[in-house]
Amino acid sequence: MAFKQCRKLVVLVLCFTLCDCDSQSNNGNSGFASVQIRPKPIWNATHTDKLKQDLLLSYDKFARPTQHYNTTTVTIGMTILHVEINEFKSTISVNAWIRLVWTDEKLKWNSSDYGGLTDVNFADHEIWQPDIMLYNSATGSSVNHLGGTHCVVKENGEIIWVPPTLLVALCDFNLRYWPFDTQTCSLKFGSWTYDGSEIDIKNFDPSTDLSMIVQNGEWDIAQPETFRSVTHYTCCDAPYVDVTFKLTLVRRSPAYRAIIVAPAFVVIMLALMGFWLPPQAGEKVLLNGCTAIIISIFMVYFTQKIPTMGSHTPLIVLFYSSSLYIVCFSMLVSIIVIWISRTQHHRPLPWIIKRYLTGLLGKLLGLSHYIAETSLSSQRMTAEEMRDHQVTEFEDHQTNDDHQFMGSSDKIPIQQDWVLLAAAVDRIAFVFYGLLFAILAAVYSL
Ligand SMILES: *[C@@H]1O[C@H](CO)[C@@H](O)[C@H](O)[C@H]1NC(C)=O
Ligand SMILES: *[C@@H]1O[C@H](CO)[C@@H](O)[C@H](O)[C@H]1NC(C)=O
Ligand SMILES: *[C@@H]1O[C@H](CO)[C@@H](O)[C@H](O)[C@H]1NC(C)=O
Repeated sequence: MAFKQCRKLVVLVLCFTLCDCDSQSNNGNSGFASVQIRPKPIWNATHTDKLKQDLLLSYDKFARPTQHYNTTTVTIGMTILHVEINEFKSTISVNAWIRLVWTDEKLKWNSSDYGGLTDVNFADHEIWQPDIMLYNSATGSSVNHLGGTHCVVKENGEIIWVPPTLLVALCDFNLRYWPFDTQTCSLKFGSWTYDGSEIDIKNFDPSTDLSMIVQNGEWDIAQPETFRSVTHYTCCDAPYVDVTFKLTLVRRSPAYRAIIVAPAFVVIMLALMGFWLPPQAGEKVLLNGCTAIIISIFMVYFTQKIPTMGSHTPLIVLFYSSSLYIVCFSMLVSIIVIWISRTQHHRPLPWIIKRYLTGLLGKLLGLSHYIAETSLSSQRMTAEEMRDHQVTEFEDHQTNDDHQFMGSSDKIPIQQDWVLLAAAVDRIAFVFYGLLFAILAAVYSL
């Protein structure tokens, strides 16, 4: 132990004597380490070297470069290059250049003392930089999202720092009007540790520059608004200042118009067209089935495109899902109509219904063709009946074939009446569904 201390002492004494000699020989050049280890460079120091050495001599880069009672004013601006939105993660990514300007009281000089040098570049973190951060950053722990680029310091102490960054911010999307929606996202910048009396943040006017923007295929960006606000947090008395950039993005929808709105129109048309097929036609069921499949495919597409956990269900999705219900009930109506028109009825149509259908209601529903057919067949029947009666009166014995013919001809007018009813149900359903779709379209387009 004692031996070790003794050796330390010897080393120290040796060192001091060495330094002493050196400083004497070097003519008052203080700072023993630099002289001892580094020989004089063969090149002559430039004005920039001298200036940097002079400015950074005992400069503390972690100390705010002004008196504690003075405020450092930081001016912030942004040049937006590209904007991207992730609906599933509820984030907005902005490629931007942040422009920060402040004044450092310690970094001032007279250019005439340094050969007319008016500005000098400093590396990132070589001098004090304000801890301006994106408050609503979505990239959690990676605090250092302002990249490591150099700063330019001017003669009067003004510092310009333009770090290019990728800002990922949280944003609450409202997808109710998807795909014709407009989203508003905020980028809130503020000092993390300094309060309003220490660092005051202002914004440039205009604070955002969109001239360099690389357009996103899906989103149009409007000129952002910028405002400064002062917040009091529960932790501390001092106010905290922040500057918020409010980005308004409008979804460009021509592609969506083609992909989503046109099929919606076709679905409505298909559903309505089914009611105009002849009442006996089994194709109705096929048509409705196809429509249901089309709608289901679109629902799957929507789940791929839209976050299903969102609080606002897009109206277009509600439209498609209510259309699916409508198509299902329209299938039911079709089956009833087919059943009415195809089964062999033994009872005639209740006369009250028949009277309405052959009257004004039938004309209103455009059933004149069916009415004409029923009246024609009933006329034919009465004519046949009369002839048959005459025949039976005169000739008692009839052939079996004739009996059968008479039997089937007896059925035709009854069947025609039921077909008339089926057609009427179809038409009423058509009018009803037409109105329903009109209401749906009106509700969802508002
Ligand atoms: C450095 O400066 C001295 C005089 O100040 C001059 O004689 C010398 O040539 C310079 N050296 C270089 C490399 O410029
Ligand atoms: C710092 O504050 C003092 C007192 O408020 C003021 O006189 C002085 O001009 C301020 N200095 C700067 C650089 O703002
Ligand atoms: C810079 O120095 C020159 C001469 O030393 C002097 O004339 C001039 O006023 C100074 N400028 C400032 C801004 O101090």
